[in-house]
Amino acid sequence: MALSFDQIVVRESQTPQTRPKKILESVLHFLAYHFILSRRSTRHVTVAGLDLTVGPTVFDPRFFLTSAFFAEFILGLDLRGKRVADVGTGSGILAIAAAKAGASEVVAIDINPYAVAATNVNAKKNGVAGTVKAIIGHLLSPVPGGARFDLILTNPPFFEGQPRDVADRSWYAGPNFRDIATLFEQASQRLAPGGRVYVVLSSSCNLAAFAEMIEKAGMTGHPVSKKSFVLESIIVYELRRSPDAVAAYGSERSPSLVEL
Ligand SMILES: C[S@@+](CC[C@H](N)C(=O)[O-])C[C@H]1O[C@@H](n2cnc3c(N)ncnc32)[C@H](O)[C@@H]1O
Repeated sequence: MALSFDQIVVRESQTPQTRPKKILESVLHFLAYHFILSRRSTRHVTVAGLDLTVGPTVFDPRFFLTSAFFAEFILGLDLRGKRVADVGTGSGILAIAAAKAGASEVVAIDINPYAVAATNVNAKKNGVAGTVKAIIGHLLSPVPGGARFDLILTNPPFFEGQPRDVADRSWYAGPNFRDIATLFEQASQRLAPGGRVYVVLSSSCNLAAFAEMIEKAGMTGHPVSKKSFVLESIIVYELRRSPDAVAAYGSERSPSLVEL
C-alpha cells in the first residue's frame, strides 16, 4: 500500500501546531520582518554561486535557508530543453538556477513588482537573460492559457496569517493560506504530460494543510531532498498529477524517498 502525502508529511512534522511552536513562529516573524523583509536598502549577495541584487521588499535569499538549499538542488538537475515556471520568484534565484541547469525557457512570476525587476536584473547579471522572462501576477494566472511546463518550481510563503505589506507576502500566505489556495490546482493544470512540481517547505509550517491542498489538486508527492537544522527541517517535495505518479513510480513509492 502506497503512503499518502498526508502520511509522509505527518512523519516529517512530528510536532503538531502547538502553542510553543506558534510563539516561536511569531518571534521569528517579528525578527525577520523588522530586520530583513522590510529593509529599504539594496544588497548585492552571492547565494549558491549566483550573484544577485536584492532591492527593497524583495525576499533576500541570503537570510533564509530554503532559497540556497532549493537553488543547489535545482542546479544539480539536468533540465536541458525543459520549459520551467517559477512561482513566487523573489530575486529570481530559482529561475536562474533552472536556466543554469539547462532549461530552454523559464517564466518567473511574482506578485511584487520589485521582485520582477530584480529577476530581470539578476538574469542579465548571470548570463541567462535570454532564457528567463519575469512577469508580474498572482500565481500562474498571468501565463497565457495554452502554456504548459515540464517543471514548476515554487518556494511559496508557507505561514498562515495576514501579511502587513508586499514584503511580508514572502512570509505570510494570508489567513487559511488564502493567497496560495489555488497554487497546486493551477500548477496541476499547467503541467505538460509527465511534468513535475518541486515545492520546498519547512517542518515548522503546517505541512498537513499543504498535504490537503496538494491532494485536493489531484496530485501526489514525496520528499526528494531534506536538510535538518537545529529548529527545523527543510524538505523539497516532488509532486505529480495522480495518474502520472502511478506511471512514474508504480503503485508503491520508494521507501528510501519516503524515509529521507
Ligand atoms: C519565500 S519567497 C521565495 C522567493 C524566491 N523564490 C526564493 O526562493 O528566494 C516567496 C515569494 O512569493 C511571492 N508571492 C507571494 N504570494 C504570491 C502570489 N499569490 N503570486 C505570486 N507570487 C507570490 C512573494 O512576493 C515572494 O517573492
